[in-house]
Amino acid sequence: MEDLVTMPDSCDQGKSPWTFRVDRMAADDVALVGNQCMLGNGYVGYRGTLEEYSSDQLVGCMLNGVYDQVPGKWRETVNAPNGLFTRIEGAGEMSRHQLELNIRKGRLRRDSTVAMPFGVVTIQSERFVSHDNVHLICMSYSVRPSESGAVVVHTGIDREVWDINGPHLGDFEISEVGEVLCVSATTQELGITVAVSEVIDCPFEVSVAGSTRTVTFEAEAGRTYGFTKYVSIYTSLDCDAPVDESIRCCREAKAAGYDSLGVAHDERWENHWRDCDVEIEGDDEAQFALRYSLYQIQLAAPRHSETVSIPARALSGQVYKGAVFWDTEMFMTPVFTLTDPSVARNLILYRYHTLPGALAKAKEYGYKGAFYAWEGQEGGKEACTHFNVTDVFTGRPMRTYFRDKQIHISADIVYAIWQYVELTGDDSVLVEGAAEVMVECARFFYSYAYFKEDKDRYELIDVTGPDEYHERVGNNSYTNRMVKHCMDATLAALKRLEELDPDGYEDLDTKTGFVKELSRWARFSERLYIPKPAESSRIIPQFDGYETLEDVSVQALKERVLNPNEYLGGGSGLATTTKVLKQADVVLMLNLFPNDHELDVVRKNWEYYEPRTEHGSSLSACAYAMVGATIGRADWAYDYFMKTATVDLTGNSKQYVGTLYIGGTHPAANGGSWLSAVYGFAGLSANAESISCKPSLPSKWKSMRFTVRWRGDRYAVHVTQEKGTVLKCKEVVKV
Ligand code: BGC
Repeated sequence: MEDLVTMPDSCDQGKSPWTFRVDRMAADDVALVGNQCMLGNGYVGYRGTLEEYSSDQLVGCMLNGVYDQVPGKWRETVNAPNGLFTRIEGAGEMSRHQLELNIRKGRLRRDSTVAMPFGVVTIQSERFVSHDNVHLICMSYSVRPSESGAVVVHTGIDREVWDINGPHLGDFEISEVGEVLCVSATTQELGITVAVSEVIDCPFEVSVAGSTRTVTFEAEAGRTYGFTKYVSIYTSLDCDAPVDESIRCCREAKAAGYDSLGVAHDERWENHWRDCDVEIEGDDEAQFALRYSLYQIQLAAPRHSETVSIPARALSGQVYKGAVFWDTEMFMTPVFTLTDPSVARNLILYRYHTLPGALAKAKEYGYKGAFYAWEGQEGGKEACTHFNVTDVFTGRPMRTYFRDKQIHISADIVYAIWQYVELTGDDSVLVEGAAEVMVECARFFYSYAYFKEDKDRYELIDVTGPDEYHERVGNNSYTNRMVKHCMDATLAALKRLEELDPDGYEDLDTKTGFVKELSRWARFSERLYIPKPAESSRIIPQFDGYETLEDVSVQALKERVLNPNEYLGGGSGLATTTKVLKQADVVLMLNLFPNDHELDVVRKNWEYYEPRTEHGSSLSACAYAMVGATIGRADWAYDYFMKTATVDLTGNSKQYVGTLYIGGTHPAANGGSWLSAVYGFAGLSANAESISCKPSLPSKWKSMRFTVRWRGDRYAVHVTQEKGTVLKCKEVVKV
């Protein structure tokens, strides 16, 4: 974390640090700091930019699940106009500046000294994106001039927000209703209305022009003058009258006041921490990094709706088109399954609501069932294009096969659903749509597979596994194993549905006609080829023919690179003809199916694939951390854990693929940090029958404590270097 992040002294609650400070203010830092100091509540993500910033400094107020496409450009999430915009007239360069993010409470404070025509002014602000009311953002703002005189502050709603493929909003309308200002606009493609209202509580003279207020007062040198501001956002996806709703919300917020709204917000955060916190004794750096990761993932958790999910860059911007990937099911949902199942439930049902897109995609390719989008947007629409990367040398778009061949996404979704059902005991999700998702995914895989008469087995050929550098391979071990799990889990889920809700079972059959396919699916699962460890080496081949590729180290491969942003995969990528893989693939599979192989096989594969993995994706390191801990190499695992847990603190991640900017926050890594700590170091193991732990702590960790929710009850887990205990808590927790 070096000089980017000052490890805090201590915050006002508890003995461990919960805040970090950033004092960077150069123009080059705005992207990183904007990510580091994010606020959000699953409905909206607000970047950590300063009040006076505008589109050039990447101000983003990203609305989860609101997408728009400008003709000829990529569809992406919409940023709402910036209701926190505030600027002091005459303010110049900052001479001193600090942002302090309190991750325990989701509050961001600013303290800056800024040059004025006469003297300087100290600006202090605090903001929070309410966790009590997802439509509300609150800010308090104050100034303290060094010289007496008139101070003029402009504050209002600014349209100049970050757009990668915009502009998305048009037909702007400004209204002033009583003391509330409102800007509404509509998206280009679907005509969604976005309404942003704001009101201020201010004792000074205020005039309004357009969507900006001007606050004027005579200030005495050294005295502090301030106001509070309430911003509310609604869209026509939320309600019929978003303008009215946002105005009403602002009025109510002003009446309630900043402090009381803050108390309600803080209470919600206390609940989140009660559910997800992990205490690490003996390693403050790891402690903070893990908590920070949990903070980031909480910002994007959709508690309010099952029609949105968590995009690959969370709500930090339009990067990756604001789309939802397999990242959610493999690295985020499992965290919520054990900490806050209601969020996991929403994430799962999101896939039910987006099933139409997955059915359409399978059909487009000539398959049956549900082929989920690689980059999913509203309704499950596929956002990934056929030419998704631009070659840095020629400037030409490259044909990539992420969209066409990463079929594992449908199996990943089923994995998350079944894990949720098993670990929470909440079968009702099957009735409410998850069983239908499973049926359609199973049906898709059956239609995708080939039966090879000569080998008497089913195979999955022409696929891309998690390692995207090797496209269109045969029998990717991860994919085949996940598909087998998909078939088995679907059969088990349907059996359960039949017992639980015979009418629902029949209705599902009437709707989808699955019953006649069940025996085929069982046979497919039995005869699906699962690559085995080689006789002598015990290495599981990543795919057919992997062993014939050039064996070169990651380091040696990197020496061949001509342009730091060149894409290593695809048709002509440097890694394509070598064994170098982008991210955990076989190792991820070993982690998901820990009972498939003896520990010795797991260890040999970890050791084999580790030096060949580039970790070109932020999803990779946590898989190596988890498996590393399982094989008793906690200290190897530790480095991978820290790499995962600090990715959004340090900003050490790939920023470009080809010419495509991919910066932002990394919720999969954030979730992966918790998974590494809990499943890896604490060695938690849970299924429908039992829950236990077998710790393998890094040498400097004395102990870990956390709670999980398992099958309706809360359990306290305490592990030390020597042993682990899992004890049922007295309180009753409803899923
Ligand atoms: C990774 C994918 C991941 C995507 C979004 C890519 O770099 O290879 O596995 O889903 O980023 O995080």
